[in-house]
Amino acid sequence: MRLRKKPWVAEALKGFSDIVVQNPGEGLAGKWQDMFGNELPLHVELGTGKGRFITGMAEQQRGLINFIGIEAKEEIVYSAAQKLRELELSNVQLLVFDVNDILTIFSRGEIERLYINFCDPWPKNRHAKRRLTHIEFLKKYRILLKPGGQLWFKTDNRPLFEFSLEQFSEFGLEINGITYDLRKSGFDGNVMTEYETKFSALGQPICRCEVNF
Ligand SMILES: C[S@@+](CC[C@H](N)C(=O)[O-])C[C@H]1O[C@@H](n2cnc3c(N)ncnc32)[C@H](O)[C@@H]1O
Repeated sequence: MRLRKKPWVAEALKGFSDIVVQNPGEGLAGKWQDMFGNELPLHVELGTGKGRFITGMAEQQRGLINFIGIEAKEEIVYSAAQKLRELELSNVQLLVFDVNDILTIFSRGEIERLYINFCDPWPKNRHAKRRLTHIEFLKKYRILLKPGGQLWFKTDNRPLFEFSLEQFSEFGLEINGITYDLRKSGFDGNVMTEYETKFSALGQPICRCEVNF
């Protein structure tokens, strides 16, 4: 994805070096447990946005799970970092990074679960490959997820959801807990994202599923 850099943000992010990795590199692959200083399982959110979900999850799972949020736009990472700082959570790191390059910063089987929440739908067919649930991304996720690892997916966008279900099936993945209306599904412990809060307030149903790799 094309990024427009805002010079003040990179500078401001330096004040969050305990929470934000601005230029993650290959040296980090296989080293995330060392970074966190423990051997807790690793959950990674792709396209974290302003961090409401990852903050809520990290708070809920403090001492149980380490979380990494990947977000391409540094000004958005800055908003997420501010949320995290207030809560003094030590089990989250935010990366200013493009998911397209995800294979370079994790090692094989290092991740236990991925979350994709309200990813950009890229409605034009010619842009389908940019959708984070496209089969070309699934190939990468398979390498990085542990055997039995999962992807949890939420979106308000029905055509994107249908497309994603097709991609998961085509790739031979088992899909569980499919719902077209999360609020009515009985799913417990849902942590809302920024987009989810906005769409839910408009009465829009949220689609969700869990995919086993
Ligand atoms: C529609 S927003 C949803 C944000 C958040 N997940 C939520 O539900 O509120 C999608 C986010 O994904 C980020 N994003 C899109 N493509 C990305 C990529 N290839 N790598 C990293 N972040 C990406 C965008 O910058 C944006 O912040």
